Parts: sequence; C-alpha cells; structure tokens
Amino acid sequence: MHRVLVIVCASVAAMKAPFVLRRIRETGCETRVIASDSALNFVTPLALSSASGNELYTRGSWFSPQAGAQHLELAHWAEAVVVVAASADFMAKAALGLADDLGSATLLSVRCPVMWAPAMNTAMWEHPATGAHKAKLQSWGHQFIGPTSGKLGTRGEGEGMGRMLEPEEIAEQVKRVFAPKDLAGKKVLISAGPTREYLDPVRFVSNPSSGKMGFAVAEEALSRGAEVVIVSGPVSIPAPAGSKVVPVESALQMKAAMEDHFEWSDLVVMTAAVADYRAAEQKHEKQAKISEQVTIEMVPNPDILAALGQKKGNRVLVGFAMETHAGVERAAGKAQRKNADFICLNYPTREGTSFGGDDNQVTFVFPDGTFQDLPRMSKREVARLLLNEAMQRMQ
Ligand code: C5P
Repeated sequence: MHRVLVIVCASVAAMKAPFVLRRIRETGCETRVIASDSALNFVTPLALSSASGNELYTRGSWFSPQAGAQHLELAHWAEAVVVVAASADFMAKAALGLADDLGSATLLSVRCPVMWAPAMNTAMWEHPATGAHKAKLQSWGHQFIGPTSGKLGTRGEGEGMGRMLEPEEIAEQVKRVFAPKDLAGKKVLISAGPTREYLDPVRFVSNPSSGKMGFAVAEEALSRGAEVVIVSGPVSIPAPAGSKVVPVESALQMKAAMEDHFEWSDLVVMTAAVADYRAAEQKHEKQAKISEQVTIEMVPNPDILAALGQKKGNRVLVGFAMETHAGVERAAGKAQRKNADFICLNYPTREGTSFGGDDNQVTFVFPDGTFQDLPRMSKREVARLLLNEAMQRMQ
C-alpha cells in the first residue's frame, strides 16, 4: 500500500479534506493527515482522523517523548505529500523554507513528490507574490493540481479562479504518482467528442457523443507518463488535468487541428464521433422558418483517420467504430482502408454501452480480421487495455 501524507491548510475548502482523504484511500493508499491550528476552525479533528484511518497530527503532537520529532517521522513515512486547501500563506512559508509548525517542518524534510491543491480567493491567487512562490515551488519539482475557476466559498466572491479541485480529481492526481510510467516520453494525440456541422449560425447537425471515452484514454495515458493533446468537439466534461485541449466544432476544424499535431505524435487515438456529412452551404444568416418541407444538401466530410493513415510513418493509429451488424468484418475493413493498427469496435445497441455512459464493451479488431473480445468494463479500463495493445506496437 502506498503511503500518502495529506497536509490541510486553513481555507474554507479544508472542509473537503475528509473527502480527499477518503478518495485517496479508495485508490488503495494509506493516509496520514496533518492539520494546521487554523485549519481546525474549518474541519473537525475527528472528521480528519476518521477519514484518514489514522490519528491526526497537529502542532500539539509535534514532539513526544515516545515518538520523538514527528516531522522527521512523517517525512520518512510519506511516499507522496499532498497539500490541500493550500493557502497563500502556506505556499509562502514553503517557498521560503520556513518550518515553524508541524506541516511546514515536515514539508521541508520530505524527499518524495509534493503536490499542491490550492484554494483561495482570486485576488490572493493572482497576486504576484503567490505567483512567485508557486514558480519557486515548481522549480523544486513540486506539482500544482488546480486551482480551477468556479464557485468560491468566501463572502461576496461568487465565481472566480481559486477553487480547489474536487476530491476525486485530487485523488486521481495522487494515483498518477504511483502508476508505472511505461508511456513516459510518448506523445499521445486523441480526438474526442462529437463534431457540429452548422447549417446556419444557430443550427447544427451533431450526435450525442459525450467525449468520455477519449478523456478516459487521456487520463490513462497521463497517469502512465505520456504527454497528451486532446482535440475535442463540444463536450461538457472537465478536461483531464495535465492535458492540452484544443477545442474544435466542425469536422474540418478537427481535421486541421489533428493534422497540426500529427507530426508531434507517437500514438493517435480517434475516439471522436465525426459527423459523416456537413451542409453543402453554411448559411451566414439564420434561416427563417418556412412551412414547406425543406431539403438540405449535405456533402461528405473528409475521413480524418484515413487521411492521417496515409502519412502514418512509425506512428500507431487506433480508431473506434460503432456497428449494429457484421461488426468484426466491417471494422477489419475500416482498419485496412484507414491504415489503422486496430479498431475498437463497439455496439451502440448493447446494454450499458450507449453514448454518454461510464462503461463500454469493445472488441479490438485488427486489419487481418483477427479480433479480441473484451467484456463490459469502465471506459478507463478499456483505455488501459487499449494503451497496452498500442504500446506493443510502438517502437
Ligand atoms: O467509418 P467510421 O465513421 O465508422 O469510422 C470510425 C473511425 O473513423 C473513428 O475512429 C472516427 O473517429 C474516424 N473518423 C474520422 N473521420 C470521419 C469519420 C470517422 O476520422 N469523417
């Protein structure tokens, strides 16, 4: 079991610290927790100790005749440290190497990876002092996870930059620290989500793709050390932390963005549900409603995967295909035509694997018609197996 030390600072978001601890433990890690004196104004000692499954460490437990200096003991114990509800004050202390309480003294004593999940008011986050301290900490290899923009807890603030990442996202980042880095140095280009083919400025043809499959591949690749670019159609799920997202709408925009990053990539995964057709003419003004039947002329979109397949080089190319019948045969034909290494075939009609769900059931289909059936599993697990398969083909 990996050992994660959580340091809790005084910020309104400290009340989420027990959830952070719980989520980290759910990833299979053991946790210990230090809280600053003022953090305990926002969250109770019992909530923290019961969520961590261990005693709570505070200034009061810093030195004891039995345990000695706790900062050295905790620093030796930890395999990763995450500072949550990280305040501007605590960042400043750490950046200066101050060690006047148990948390800061421990931070100065660790040699393991350190992550920061800041939570503060927008003005404090944007202050040059905070920026300078962040840069200093980063120069020592500390990793910042968030903050993000959103609702802030403080009075009258409303929305703004400075919101702490959600406990699940923090736990996900912590998990990445321990994942085997078998994709380190690899560059993964992923297309995700639907495309929108506008008929006029306010109407478009699209599909219900959620982007979840592509984002799961991105998260898995990031956790294994890859660099990731996602070319994404319009989706409503948050981008995986650490990825670069290139937002696009139409198939033509997606093609251009994929081509821009193709040279850079080692592996391309096309999970996007690209619209097969676009309007022959995109009207520049909103079309008035008319009572008669209308006919819209559509022209085929270019096949992005096939176009990339033509200049594949040493890259590994993976596509997705949805079929309702003769799946393996049709997918093998697509893998051949598009010059893909394999196609992940899925069936929209199968239970639990429809658009937008968290699970998928795929069959890897190879150009020679051989295939590997997988059972239903989470999209993240599909992503893991997909990347394993792709890795075997990478030079
Ligand atoms: O031919 P079909 O649309 O079933 O192929 C699906 C695969 O091809 C997916 O990987 C999809 O992202 C990709 N595709 C594409 N450009 C298109 C249509 C599909 O890259 N215009």
